[in-house]
Amino acid sequence: MAPLPLGWKGGTFWVSRFVPIFHFFSLFKSFMDTQPVKGTRDFYPEDMRLRNWLFGIWRSTARTYGFEEFDACVLESEELYIRKAGDEITGQLYHFEDKGGRRLALRPELTPSLARMVMARQKALSFPIKWTSIPQCFRYERMTRGRKREHYQWNMDVVGQPLNAAEIELISALLTAIRAMGLDHSHVRLHLNDRRLLESILSSLNVPEDRRQGVLVVMDKRDKISPEHLESMLAEQGLTGVQLGHLNEFLGMTSLEQVKARLAQNGGTAQGVKELEDLMGLLGRMGLGTFLTFDITVVRGLSYYTGTVFELKDARGQLRTLAGGGRYDSLLAHLGGDPVPAVGFGFGDVVILELLEDLGLVPKLNPAMDFVVIPFSETEIHQGLEIAQALREQGLSVDMDASLRRLKKALQRAEETHAQRAVLLMPDELAKGEVVVRVMATREEQRVNLKKFLASPRD
Ligand code: HAM
Repeated sequence: MAPLPLGWKGGTFWVSRFVPIFHFFSLFKSFMDTQPVKGTRDFYPEDMRLRNWLFGIWRSTARTYGFEEFDACVLESEELYIRKAGDEITGQLYHFEDKGGRRLALRPELTPSLARMVMARQKALSFPIKWTSIPQCFRYERMTRGRKREHYQWNMDVVGQPLNAAEIELISALLTAIRAMGLDHSHVRLHLNDRRLLESILSSLNVPEDRRQGVLVVMDKRDKISPEHLESMLAEQGLTGVQLGHLNEFLGMTSLEQVKARLAQNGGTAQGVKELEDLMGLLGRMGLGTFLTFDITVVRGLSYYTGTVFELKDARGQLRTLAGGGRYDSLLAHLGGDPVPAVGFGFGDVVILELLEDLGLVPKLNPAMDFVVIPFSETEIHQGLEIAQALREQGLSVDMDASLRRLKKALQRAEETHAQRAVLLMPDELAKGEVVVRVMATREEQRVNLKKFLASPRD
């Protein structure tokens, strides 16, 4: 009888030819979760190429508009995000106590850090300042399409400019970036509103002033929860059935005229209307009118907004909001600084990539490489490394393929990495001081003197 094939084979412990006991690697599985943390993302090189492409558009747009880049640490004091109005973001914090007993949070957004930094140098800074950043943010969100627990968010903010010139530049920059991605007004719309107008509505409905922030934060959840749930949350904020009915009536209106007329009927004055009309008129004159929609339902979930509010949305209405922002004239004062007018937006990387994917507009991005050096055997590796180094010192990008795989396979790999040329190091040619240079696109090969080649590698 054949002996029992007991033992390790292929990473598995076998008790007979047919019965594996456990796979070696499963040993580790039971100890360690090797999945990324739920809601976070791994960026493989192809994902990174896309991310860099997107960030490149954001950065170059910001530069065109004269914004300067800044950053802060992803760790902040938890209290920076605790707001009385019941902002959803406060409940979504990744927070903990550090070894020194400090309550810290991973930033869910950049605006409070920006306000903190401006406040620290309020006397020294020369306003208005125009700052931009692409922070990584964390929110413990219920995961749905377009909402993850980690995202990057392009921010542009103007601090110290009370005039709507700030809003105009910001919205124009946002739409410039959108067009640089190959999108137009048939793909996305910019929905505009004004918190002052919403305040006027709440005031006309006799909602007490100290309740309004809370009501606005709840109103922002309108698209995310059932009407019944929304009504019960608004009732918790003290709204009566009659007030709710009137509020819903306002929220169903699609033009500024309608809102104005209804407010006048109630005997109220419509704040923010002139500002909205001016803003939309000016943006229209700049050729951006086709992107714009007045939208009374745009509230924004963050309680610090005080004036213009806007959201960039997918025109098909299928995806979550792409970008959002507005004027927040009292955030600095709220943190203890002198009051300074401010306005800005955040534009996340998740939903825009989903939209480009849906529309078939994700660009095909290849790694770019000038040369790949392929030694024939181990003997040529050292010389290959020297040649690669000499090329790199001329500013060229060079991959050294020291895998010693068959030439056919090495050339296949060179094609995959989109190398322009391959430098083949064959023993006979090298002995004569020559290399073979292959132009990858045409497959043309030329034997050239090594010194001459290194003197002008692109000839
Ligand atoms: P926000 O509306 O909370 O505003 O976020 C802005 C954008 O960040 C969203 O429109 C979305 O693209 C992206 N975003 C937010 N949360 C997530 C998530 N969980 N997953 C994926 N993407 C997400 C702010 O954060 C404000 N601080 C923006 C601002 C800057 N206002 C003035 N200056």
